[in-house]
Amino acid sequence: MKLGVVILAAGKGTRMRSSRPKVLHKLANRPLLRHVVNTSNKLDPAQTIVVYGHGGEAVLQDFSLDKEITWVEQVQQLGTGHAVNQAASSLADVDRVLVLYGDVPLIQVSTLSSLIQAASESDLALLTVNLENPTGYGRIVRNAQGVVQRIVEQKDAIPEELKITEINTGFLVADKKRLIDWLSRVDNNNVQNEYYLTDIVELAVADGVDVKVAQPDDPTEVMGVNDRTQLAFLERHYQWQQAELLMQQGVALLDPSRFDLRGELIVGQDVQIDINVIIEGRVELGDGVSIGANTVIRNCMIAEGVQILENCVLEDAVVGAESIVGPFARIRPGTKLAGKNKVGNFVEIKKSDIGEGSKINHLSYIGDSLVGKNVNIGAGTITCNYDGANKFQTIIGDNAFIGSDSQLVAPVRIGEGATIGAGSTITTDTPAEMLTLSRSKQFNVKSWKRPVKKTKT
Ligand code: UD1
Ligand code: CA
Repeated sequence: MKLGVVILAAGKGTRMRSSRPKVLHKLANRPLLRHVVNTSNKLDPAQTIVVYGHGGEAVLQDFSLDKEITWVEQVQQLGTGHAVNQAASSLADVDRVLVLYGDVPLIQVSTLSSLIQAASESDLALLTVNLENPTGYGRIVRNAQGVVQRIVEQKDAIPEELKITEINTGFLVADKKRLIDWLSRVDNNNVQNEYYLTDIVELAVADGVDVKVAQPDDPTEVMGVNDRTQLAFLERHYQWQQAELLMQQGVALLDPSRFDLRGELIVGQDVQIDINVIIEGRVELGDGVSIGANTVIRNCMIAEGVQILENCVLEDAVVGAESIVGPFARIRPGTKLAGKNKVGNFVEIKKSDIGEGSKINHLSYIGDSLVGKNVNIGAGTITCNYDGANKFQTIIGDNAFIGSDSQLVAPVRIGEGATIGAGSTITTDTPAEMLTLSRSKQFNVKSWKRPVKKTKT
């Protein structure tokens, strides 16, 4: 059975009050449509069509790498039936068509599978839910025997129908040929003068089709985003779900409601995460890692036993085992800490390899550097890596000791075991195992008197 997927994404999203098309608004830092496409891809469909409209160029640009998608433009939004019909002529050689929504991001593969399963026994299957408050949704009208007859939209319904609590989620699976036929017969004789996709149900019943129904495990799966409140609600729900999964994997989240995962997190055993931590991209945390409060980690590998203390920002970096980072450290792209390192407060490291056991404890900038093992970099050390036009490398040998408040003007090489006296500006390579100083001589002024305040006469 070959499956074609049609994702409706043409809606304007007026209530978002944004210049951005609705389906590009982000949930967990990914566009709504991205969530839907990812879920759809897991069904391994033979074809994926996205019906786009408002802000089309921006959508196409965002998904330019998704070569598997067929794009169909719906110039005027004349209704959901019209939208699916736009895709009809682009549908490839598929047997069944699944309709998804670009603004309904949390739909699960398991739910779609059960909908597809329901459709295997019929030419039409609908996904429905029972809601205590069904206001606004299309209602599933069944006959006395409980057989689905049609869907009536809220605006077209009579009071008796408005009491129905089983609603249409919009998700459906239909036989391709029959769907195209039904859509060609849908008209816009209704209160909204729209071509309703939902009208195919009545046509199917008239054709003798036994319309099947499936239901999601969780009603939030079928909730759409129309405004920013709904988006925020789904974001929180999604974050809670992710937090729950992590806790099931053994992660100690000190407050799961104050944790955000915007990407993928791979964890070892006994990982502890304090409050207000944001994880972005792909992050790995080894066994026993602990992350302090208010920390952001983006695309990093954090090895076992590492402690990231409070208020750190780490991006595109590797932190080797048993290192201690922070509080208030900034680890920028291209940084590799080999392990057993200490990086303290107000230290910024960029594109540098730091050897095992080396320490940079306070107030330093280390950029474009190769630092050996067991190096001690004193407070206030700066690698001057940039001359205003080009970047240069600083190389520091194993066991070197850099005195506080030193500037290492790159390109420069500090020998193994070298000691740099505090306050030095080092502009040429320094020898191994020696003390190098560049500092003006200290002297005393005997005759000097401290100024005193003039007294008024
Ligand atoms: C639709 C259903 C309703 C269901 C509800 C669930 C119809 C007629 N009604 O109503 O039974 O309970 O969804 O949320 O289908 N879209 C297009 N092009 C269009 C019109 C819509 O791409 O011309 C897209 C929208 O961007 C949106 C989706 O289709 O993603 C649903 O459209 P919307 O207008 O929100 O339908 P509802 O009135 O909510
Ligand atoms: Ca809607």
